[in-house]
Amino acid sequence: MEEAYFAKQLMDWYQKHKRRLPWRHTKNPYLIWLSEVILQQTRVAQGLPYFHKFVQAFPTIYDLAAASEQEVLRLWQGLGYYSRARNLHACAKVIVDQYQGKFPESYSELLKLKGIGVYTAAAIASFSFNETVPVVDGNVYRVLSRVFGVKEDIASGSGQKKFRQLAARLVPKGQADVYNQAIMEFGALQCTPLTPACLLCPLNTMCYAYEHGKQRELPVKVKRLKIKQRFLHYFVIRQNGSLWMRQRVGKDIWSGLFDFYLLESSADKTLENLMENEQIMQFLTQKGVSIEVSKVYKHQLTHQQLFIIFYIIDIAETCLAGTLIAEQQLKMFTKEEVKNLPKPILINNFLYEEIF
Ligand code: ADE
Repeated sequence: MEEAYFAKQLMDWYQKHKRRLPWRHTKNPYLIWLSEVILQQTRVAQGLPYFHKFVQAFPTIYDLAAASEQEVLRLWQGLGYYSRARNLHACAKVIVDQYQGKFPESYSELLKLKGIGVYTAAAIASFSFNETVPVVDGNVYRVLSRVFGVKEDIASGSGQKKFRQLAARLVPKGQADVYNQAIMEFGALQCTPLTPACLLCPLNTMCYAYEHGKQRELPVKVKRLKIKQRFLHYFVIRQNGSLWMRQRVGKDIWSGLFDFYLLESSADKTLENLMENEQIMQFLTQKGVSIEVSKVYKHQLTHQQLFIIFYIIDIAETCLAGTLIAEQQLKMFTKEEVKNLPKPILINNFLYEEIF
């Protein structure tokens, strides 16, 4: 059976190649929990000294629960993501106060503890209590996707469900402790992200990625690009019925199209904020200038969300706008000329709604 072969090959490989790590020589759930929380934060080599420091300072869960938050944070220093340390401390207190200092002994009971998620619950349940549950971390995704050719996105909910189901089928009954360590170690040392050692791999006769040369493409992880928010403040300078505009250049959006004098910020700003700029202040507060503020226009691009506000600024003949005009190389266009200029659709809409 493929599942049994897979598990046996992994465990045989593990017996030959495993690293001697302190949390592999204990069944103590406290020590296993501690190691797993640290290892979610960093690699084995960097995590080891932290593990030793914690075990020395807090040999039991009672010691950790009795420590001050400051002490815990100080020992955690350098690992980053300090809410993990606070959760660790809070969880120790709960186990001492509500569970008489004894970890629950099943996956489902462990999951009920605040701060223990599916990965950590599975790690403790299998390593300490040998419950037949799979651990699924980044190493496991990599091994399973490559060997079994699973192309689902590991960042998606449905992908994770699929991997979890496959992982659950593969855990050999009564051997979850060794098997789970084996598959993680295999991912860390043999089936590595960039240079998996396929020629020497005990699974290469059944590996989809090896057969099809797809090691680099698996696992599939779709990057969720962060949508950038931009706040554009346009000065629509109007003089004698004509508008001052400029042609956009460079690599940013709308290159080659026409827009207005532009101030941009990465957070929302008011006109008062903009007037903290001396030059803007002088321009807007001269005699013969009147300002009208548009609604906020929202515009969604693939990776950007734009919030655009237009300040319609009427200036008298005599007003001085020279510095602004020079700064962004504005040119004056009559209404009819403006209608014929190439413009971003949003600016076109604004013009037809509020100007023409
Ligand atoms: N990474 C996460 N858990 C681990 C473990 N138990 N051994 C080695 N590396 C790990």
